[in-house]
Amino acid sequence: MKQENTKKTALITGFSSGIGMAYSKYLANQGWNLELISQDKSRSDKGKEKLNYQFARYHLRDLSKPESIKSIVENIETPNLIVANAGITKSGKAGSLDFEEKMDLFYLLCNGVIDLIESYLPEMEQKKGSRIVIISSIGAVTPMPKSSIYAAAKSAIYSYGQSLSRELNKKNITVTVSLPGYVKTLAHQRAGLGHLNEKVPGWMWIQAEQVVKETEKASIKGKSYVIPGAVYKLVRPFLQSELANNIWNKITKRNS
Ligand SMILES: NC(=O)c1ccc[n+]([C@@H]2O[C@H](COP(=O)([O-])OP(=O)(O)OC[C@H]3O[C@@H](n4cnc5c(N)ncnc54)[C@H](OP(=O)(O)O)[C@@H]3O)[C@@H](O)[C@H]2O)c1
Repeated sequence: MKQENTKKTALITGFSSGIGMAYSKYLANQGWNLELISQDKSRSDKGKEKLNYQFARYHLRDLSKPESIKSIVENIETPNLIVANAGITKSGKAGSLDFEEKMDLFYLLCNGVIDLIESYLPEMEQKKGSRIVIISSIGAVTPMPKSSIYAAAKSAIYSYGQSLSRELNKKNITVTVSLPGYVKTLAHQRAGLGHLNEKVPGWMWIQAEQVVKETEKASIKGKSYVIPGAVYKLVRPFLQSELANNIWNKITKRNS
């Protein structure tokens, strides 16, 4: 007799590398069903091979486009956990991105995350213990010269998550926004910011696995946000000061 699959399901965007891959591995180790989304076929295939997990399904979608979110919602049943992680960093001085680049980046990092969450929200409310995790960035609360659109989108989605977390307080859903600092992934290389791998001192980098561990812990506890890594927890209170921001911006200065 065919056994009913009673595992919980997580939908993870941007699974193919970095934080998304670490999240997928973490949940696979716990036996979750996984619905995994990314855009590039060859990176998705490599990710699938790396994960090597029988309870995962793979979907190719460009999440910078609204029609991709529609198609995801039409094709994937309401999950128990959403991990809205997919993202890229775009570097460049103010005015250097054209209209479409700005729209796409903002949709990928913010508006698309909102559309995805709100499409599933009514049914998630009916499921016991539903969770939403949003991977924002420490850039949400720190100025990022030459990455201003990225920082603005991360800030907007942080703000949305904080409000939603409180709005859903009495319902069956927790919302947790994670604000990682520098994480060794493909992100900087892809954005032409490879020089930061050398420039940013070693103590400022944290592992993707650490981000996942702390984010999951915070989400299960129902916390509305988390800053992974001891060093970032320590510096967070000082990031509003002019002096701390000057030092921070010097260390993390972008070339282009
Ligand atoms: N690395 C850091 O220092 C850092 C710090 C703070 C926050 N974050 C955030 O963490 C999240 C994950 O980034 P990461 O550092 O792990 O980078 P990564 O290794 O480059 O992974 C990015 C993931 O997002 C997917 N993705 C990018 N654009 C997409 C699109 N248009 N449609 C669908 N999927 C797309 C990629 O899929 P493909 O392979 O198919 O392109 C990949 O799976 C991002 O939101 C990023 O902003 C990173």
